[in-house]
Amino acid sequence: MNSDWMCYHFGIMKYFFYFGLQFRRIINYVSKKLLKAKFFDDFDWNNYTSRDYGPQLDEMRKVNNVLLPSNLEFIENLANFRLNPEIEQLYRRVMELSPKDLLEVGAGAGSNLINLQLLLPTARVAGVELLSSQVDLGKSIFGVRFPQQEIVVADFIKEDIKYLGDYEMVFTNAVAMHLTSRKVKALILKMLSYSRKYVLLHENLTHSHNFLEILLDLNEYTEFQFTIEKPSNSAFGFVIITKN
Ligand SMILES: C[S@@+](CC[C@H](N)C(=O)[O-])C[C@H]1O[C@@H](n2cnc3c(N)ncnc32)[C@H](O)[C@@H]1O
Repeated sequence: MNSDWMCYHFGIMKYFFYFGLQFRRIINYVSKKLLKAKFFDDFDWNNYTSRDYGPQLDEMRKVNNVLLPSNLEFIENLANFRLNPEIEQLYRRVMELSPKDLLEVGAGAGSNLINLQLLLPTARVAGVELLSSQVDLGKSIFGVRFPQQEIVVADFIKEDIKYLGDYEMVFTNAVAMHLTSRKVKALILKMLSYSRKYVLLHENLTHSHNFLEILLDLNEYTEFQFTIEKPSNSAFGFVIITKN
């Protein structure tokens, strides 16, 4: 065996090894993505309150005053209120549609319901939330400012909570974007079944699902009209479904 022959084969093996490694990396990455899209939500909801939501809520209170009594200024003059722009975008759109009653799905600690109750004082507001830890956090933070209606603790997709009644608007804020696309379809169908008129999803439209594809798919066997609204300066936008 001469040394040229060995070098030649060693060189080829090096390339095989390198491409094999890259190939495995690509396969791992793609299968993880596909598995995640099919089977796993973005969060492990069991640890969500302590690890993600609680600290975020503290930050929200500091920066945006969303949950402080100065909210009253917000009601009188929305423009002068220092509010997270995406949340402001949601409240403005809900106020434009001005529903008589509204149900938030995945209501978290209830901050949206509190603010929307202040903004639409005659509206009946209610919420459904998967985790009691989220609702307990809301109660401990907001105290008497918590809405009169309790937020029902339930898995909205799986459980039947028809006793809640129906609502002119059923909405989400930052919920569907964290679920698998299969769950998003089930979520939208369930929201439609509780809604008399509107289903509104305020979600990250830039880095999450292809909502157009999801809606066209659902529209094959359920009749509704929809619009997808994406303000140019925000990653968040609206999917608004109007029942026929
Ligand atoms: C990112 S948080 C948003 C909370 C709230 N909408 C807000 O804007 O502050 C998403 C919430 O959806 C809830 N959630 C997820 N899946 C749910 C389900 N199947 N039924 C009810 N709530 C759910 C989670 O527990 C979590 O509190």
